[in-house]
Amino acid sequence: MTSLYPPLDIDLPTQLLGGLSPREFMRDYWQKKPLLIRQALPGFQPPVTIRDVQTLARREEVESRLVSHGTKGWSLKQGPFRRLPPMTQAHWTLLVQSADLHDDDTAALMRLFRFIPDARLDDLMISIASDGGGVGPHYDSYDVFLLQGHGQRRWRTSSQTDLSLVPGLPLKILADFQPDADDILEPGDMLYLPPHVCHDGIAVGADCMTLSIGFRVPSQATLARGLLESAADQICAQHLGAAGLYGQPYLPGPDLSALYTDADQAPTQHPAALPEHLIDSALATLQKIRLDQAVAARFLGQWLTSLPENALFDPADDVPLLAEAIPATGQLVLDRCTRLMYSGQQVFINGEVADVTPSAALHALADKRSLPAQDIALLPADNLSALDEWLQEGWAHWER
Ligand code: SIN
Ligand code: CO
Repeated sequence: MTSLYPPLDIDLPTQLLGGLSPREFMRDYWQKKPLLIRQALPGFQPPVTIRDVQTLARREEVESRLVSHGTKGWSLKQGPFRRLPPMTQAHWTLLVQSADLHDDDTAALMRLFRFIPDARLDDLMISIASDGGGVGPHYDSYDVFLLQGHGQRRWRTSSQTDLSLVPGLPLKILADFQPDADDILEPGDMLYLPPHVCHDGIAVGADCMTLSIGFRVPSQATLARGLLESAADQICAQHLGAAGLYGQPYLPGPDLSALYTDADQAPTQHPAALPEHLIDSALATLQKIRLDQAVAARFLGQWLTSLPENALFDPADDVPLLAEAIPATGQLVLDRCTRLMYSGQQVFINGEVADVTPSAALHALADKRSLPAQDIALLPADNLSALDEWLQEGWAHWER
């Protein structure tokens, strides 16, 4: 199957980035400043229709929100929605989160942006809006590409640093929005915004559709906490014996079975004071816990490949058994929901550490999201067993 969106050459100018190469875009704009790209995707036809988005918002497993703005101010409702307002009624927008989990073509569109590491990718959100609809002036803690899919949307952006919000509202609305750019986007136009750039998108006319390809930006606090929690697995490994973090085997750790000793403790006249020696011993124990690249990669790999609850898999009935016989033709493709990443000797899939010997072909599968039959033949036996498991789970499919 030929892809609608073949991968970009990182050194070649591309229309998607307004004639910049991915290398130039990352150097000059990514995380630095907004970029408006006229006709990033000329003749763009969104992967789903407005009616498809309405249908998605009716489904239980799809995360959706309806934002409207009227005489009573802002209102926010969470889906699923049995009824939605008609396009003839102004000032509403419906947002469907992670549409890529539910539609193959939407997931393929999102992967056009894989010149940015998957570790940063979050989801593709689709919004539809009636005339005047929007979520109000706000900022996000995300990098985002706002791609116009249908109709028109007016985007105003601001380089302001005042991020104060109106208190007491159901959604984040800037108290004092001072736009310094104002553009109307047509289908195929795209606006890139780094985190914390204030913006406001308002539908101009009905039938407005915007697709947002969002990139999560973990806070230092999230990274530090996650890493420490994951490192703590080394202690549990030998001393607590329960299942590891995310149900994974524990990290091998140091021997911490020795008891604290204070044979030199002198009699005290201050029995309530914590002994200095006890404090120093506790700190010395911590020195034994490994906090190295492999531990950090393990935490990040498990965390960043873990799936949202509404990522559902649908395994085929007749999957080949690769460990027995590799089909002569065809290819293995990862399911649209599957997250596969690697670092050094470790491979991570859908929140788990894969029990495999890393191989160049497995890395190629992660990078390309597909692997032809002839390359599968090069894989070591344990890789084949892992692929068989993934096929049976529906994490991967065999395309004939
Ligand atoms: C949208 O309305 O489609 C995008 C919302 C946003 O600005 O984050
Ligand atoms: Co936003």
